[in-house]
Amino acid sequence: MNSSLLFTPITVGPQTLPNRIMISPMCQYSGNDGNANDWHMAHLGSLALSGAGLMFVEATSVSPEGRITAGCLGLYNDDNHQSLKRIVDAVRVISPIKLAIQLGHAGRKASSHRPWEGGALMSAQEGGWPTIAPSALPHKPDETPPKAMTADDIHRITADFISATERARELGFDVIEVHCAHGYLLHEFLSPLSNQRTDDFGGSLENRMRLPLAIFDAVRKAAGPGIAVGARLSATDWAEGGWDLEQSIAFSRQLQAHGADFIDVSSGGVAAHQKITLGAGYQVPFAEAIRKEVSIPVITVGLITEPQQAEDILREGKADIVALARAFISDPRWPWRAAAALGGQVTGSPPYFRCLPHGFPPIFGDVKTNQR
Ligand SMILES: Cc1cc2nc3c(=O)[nH]c(=O)nc-3n(C[C@H](O)[C@H](O)[C@H](O)COP(=O)(O)O)c2cc1C
Repeated sequence: MNSSLLFTPITVGPQTLPNRIMISPMCQYSGNDGNANDWHMAHLGSLALSGAGLMFVEATSVSPEGRITAGCLGLYNDDNHQSLKRIVDAVRVISPIKLAIQLGHAGRKASSHRPWEGGALMSAQEGGWPTIAPSALPHKPDETPPKAMTADDIHRITADFISATERARELGFDVIEVHCAHGYLLHEFLSPLSNQRTDDFGGSLENRMRLPLAIFDAVRKAAGPGIAVGARLSATDWAEGGWDLEQSIAFSRQLQAHGADFIDVSSGGVAAHQKITLGAGYQVPFAEAIRKEVSIPVITVGLITEPQQAEDILREGKADIVALARAFISDPRWPWRAAAALGGQVTGSPPYFRCLPHGFPPIFGDVKTNQR
């Protein structure tokens, strides 16, 4: 019998996940012109065999200028669509894993070098492009400021989110997450540190939430009833005078009222001078506080690396789903290890069955593979 909560199914909107382990979105900075390629095939193909309940495709931009780097994925034209279709179709053949995509726009943090190239903003000479944001305030004081968005820009970006959602729906994603975290465009609207507009989209909390909620509504509608739709937010800016937990709770309540199926709680990214207190499970208290105020599943993420740690978070009622990013890179079959440690079961594929070390409990359960 399965006594582990981590390995107990959970319903998220119209979707039911076989367990509560999520592969957090991870940019690979390895595409071209927004297109996914063989790297993404290998990366996502490998993680699709992990036994996790839900796998995210990285932050995917709704427009070309919204890519963080020139290597980031997009879903704004037919080439992007076809390149991602190749990967989604392959994943569907090899694994029953539920598939999610994170749709976003990088705002003033777009047009950057890849992290391993230093991550700084790219100049036009280096292949960079003009960026947009709620206000003409750079992320770092010495950077070229973004252009403050006009009403036309706001309409265009909203339309871009709708069109990317329609493509994600056509591709057959089970879950869509609107990226409102990490200092990218929608977080820039939420935070008073990056939003100093004096129109309907700036000033009061209600005004700062206006565009993120309008875009959420548009995505929710375009996704249709079969897709679980939620949002990732940064629960705090870790900076004086910034976005904080109280505002995050208000935003989460609004998201729920607007039909969100889940809230994914991260933190930071908008303020270059942020002071993050890092440690094991350092963002769990934010998820816990938000979970008390909403009645939809709450996801926690950040330095969760051990099966028992994940199990305890769920048992103590601090979150409903546990997301891991870096741990999946170093241990792509993390759920196997967790199932063995906690007495759970994961779905596996027959070619991997003989790889079970002697003495391991029977970690493979109901084997449903689409393998042809
Ligand atoms: C290489 C890499 C790429 C990431 N890309 C994204 C992304 O596309 N979208 C996002 O919301 N978070 C992104 N993150 C953050 C992770 O999803 C996660 O929230 C963070 O790494 C903390 O979890 P961890 O301690 O399990 O790695 C990325 C993290 C890493 C390490």
